[in-house]
Amino acid sequence: MHINPVIIIKSQREIEQLKRSNVIVAEVLQELKGMIIPGRTTQELDRVAEAIILSKGGVPAFKGYRNYPATICVSINEEVVHGIPGPRKLREGDIVSIDVGVNLNGYFGDAAITVPVGEVDQGAKRLLEVTERALYIGIEMARVGNRLFDISHAIQKWVEGKGFSVVREFVGHGIGKNLHEEPQIPNFGSPGQGPRLEKGMVFALEPMVNEGTFEVKILSDGWTVVTADGKRSAHFEHTIVITDGQAEILSIL
Ligand code: MF3
Ligand code: CO
Repeated sequence: MHINPVIIIKSQREIEQLKRSNVIVAEVLQELKGMIIPGRTTQELDRVAEAIILSKGGVPAFKGYRNYPATICVSINEEVVHGIPGPRKLREGDIVSIDVGVNLNGYFGDAAITVPVGEVDQGAKRLLEVTERALYIGIEMARVGNRLFDISHAIQKWVEGKGFSVVREFVGHGIGKNLHEEPQIPNFGSPGQGPRLEKGMVFALEPMVNEGTFEVKILSDGWTVVTADGKRSAHFEHTIVITDGQAEILSIL
């Protein structure tokens, strides 16, 4: 992370463009959520995601990014993020993270959800609740006057208070005319640190929460991030814009 990251302030017109691309992301997530059943392959989800994005005039943002081969990332159970879609079938009791990125007219949208497959155990339910809540706690802290790591700290404190851990090696990010812009937004850190938040900054907040250790490793496919201890992980992400009051979530319908 740069000590003094240059954080691009977006104009009202740009925020409207970002809203449009993020609405497509939200539509894809809504559609895919309804397809999460035992027996569904992750490549079926990918195909549907790509078809929806193209039908709305967008381009899948992840495909081709550093040679990533698919439209969505699908990460099951101990997979944290960046799982590659394929013939694997979802099974009852799995938890599955779906991450979607869209480029519409040069403006990017990015969001993720983690959903249960059929009935899941109590531990999985708690992990999903704590992780989704962590995202909303981060969003709550994303306001003018606060500093960047106030977001990070609030997420970490909440998650660790619930007995889970936050992944260190992957972070949230600024987003706009690029999928990844400054600043990097860790899900851990000290309050009162980092740049001051200003109206018009657009961030993708994305806590990744593990049941066990925060440590992760990358599989030999070069992409799939898994927990080092094999315990489960969850991931929720929204793209938001800092306003005069409460941040506005762009990646919702
Ligand atoms: N939501 C993730 C990110 O922001 C997904 C990136 S996947 C990749 O950074 F393929 F594009 F790398
Ligand atoms: Co992201």
